[in-house]
Amino acid sequence: MREKKFGIIGKPLSHSLSPALHNFWIKKNKVSANYSLIEVELSEIGEVIKKIKNHELQGINVTVPYKQAVIPFLDSIIGDAKETLSVNTINLNNEGKVIGNNTDVYGLEKSFTNKLSDKNLDQNKVLILGAGGVTPSVIYALSKKGIKKIFISNRTIKKAEIIKERFPFIEIIEWKSIETAAENMNIIINATSLGLVNGNNFEQDFKTIKPSLIYYDIIYNPEETMMIKKFKKRGIKTFNGLEMFMYQAQKSFSLWNKIIPMVDEEVKQTMTLRIK
Ligand code: ATR
Repeated sequence: MREKKFGIIGKPLSHSLSPALHNFWIKKNKVSANYSLIEVELSEIGEVIKKIKNHELQGINVTVPYKQAVIPFLDSIIGDAKETLSVNTINLNNEGKVIGNNTDVYGLEKSFTNKLSDKNLDQNKVLILGAGGVTPSVIYALSKKGIKKIFISNRTIKKAEIIKERFPFIEIIEWKSIETAAENMNIIINATSLGLVNGNNFEQDFKTIKPSLIYYDIIYNPEETMMIKKFKKRGIKTFNGLEMFMYQAQKSFSLWNKIIPMVDEEVKQTMTLRIK
């Protein structure tokens, strides 16, 4: 059979580890395929979708800033993509329709929300920092777990307000108040790009957080953001985004190839080496 072609669309893409991960699994599972970076402008998305329809591409991942923008180009969206209006995986179904899926929610569940103790979980207060592409998936994964007290803050408040239209039960906190708000939180999730390799960092110190706080950073590059380092030193339980990244990719891979690739120590180490 002809080599299958997969890829990821977004901009910028140079830091994406998706090709490394998918090509590792492609080799491991002896699939005849290749996965590459497809850096495109918004105006070029239609052409990429056409390639899926024409069987030139067998599937794509979608990352920032197109997780929502891609939706009008698709025949339909299903499952968690419908719930979040955020698409990160596209495939062609048996009827030749281009379908938008969301595997980020699965990634968040496997790596984080399913690991939370069920005890009094509905009483937990969670603060999500950021209102970018992954935030709707974070809110949905948390609410599926029964967490109701969800707060969100974003430098640009308008974006938080748009997300609240989809999830009216969330509460918006002004960006200038995040440090004070953090005092009452049980879980804080960083869904901003603050802390990313070569990028800006949080200016806030979050000195007054509860010792029992759980901090989850969606970022996996670097392996430990400044916030993770800082919180770890103070004995706070932290998670980075590497497992979420691997599990969302696992579900995309299995959707396209009908093989569930392993998220094991070998792949974790391979990816960690790529980060360093
Ligand atoms: P996009 O905004 O295109 O969806 P993203 O990577 O999904 O991109 O999201 C970036 C997030 O990091 C946004 O929440 C962004 O805040 P704005 O909406 O105000 O841009 C946040 N972010 C990036 N740089 C930031 C900074 N210096 N301070 C605070 N938040 C920042």
